[in-house]
Amino acid sequence: MTNIEELKKELEQVLSPSRFQHSLNVMEKAKELASSYQIDIKTAMLTGLAHDIAKEMNDQELLLFAKNHHLDISQVEKAKPTLLHGKVGAIILKEKYGFTKEMQDAVEFHTTGRKNMTMLDKIIYVADKIEDGRKNIPVELKELATKNIDIVLKYFYTTAIEKAIRKDSVLHPLTIEARNDLLVQQLEKEKE
Ligand SMILES: [Fe+2]
Ligand SMILES: [Fe+2]
Repeated sequence: MTNIEELKKELEQVLSPSRFQHSLNVMEKAKELASSYQIDIKTAMLTGLAHDIAKEMNDQELLLFAKNHHLDISQVEKAKPTLLHGKVGAIILKEKYGFTKEMQDAVEFHTTGRKNMTMLDKIIYVADKIEDGRKNIPVELKELATKNIDIVLKYFYTTAIEKAIRKDSVLHPLTIEARNDLLVQQLEKEKE
């Protein structure tokens, strides 16, 4: 597995200063959450640091990369190629830095969520949303993230869905699936 300093150097070159700072903040938040949920700290830090490696590729570059790598591109992704930055980033990180499948998945699904999120998926998704540079995140939500990450995850799925509707923008079906999955799990727990 690659080391954090090496990855930082590359990211500093491909990302704007503000996005690089965001990446460092996500790494720190992922570290904190990984220790709360007892998963491997270095894995979480590397994944958090790298999650937006493809975020500054433009629409054309993302679509071309996806085509060259024979990725399935849905109608929604074609309409809004920035949704592909997770999927494309995951491949870059595998090819250049030997990211594992687990790490690749967390990078891929930080943009949409999915059913049956792993703990690493959840940590990266949530860390991206609540890192210290994000404005207007209620303190209670940040605290809750270390105790019940599913509630925080559901909150951000709902927010993403509401935002897409408000902006009359396309909505990735995986986000709806991901939210339903959490709600169904909750209902099942209540029945027990
Ligand atoms: Fe992102
Ligand atoms: Fe991000």
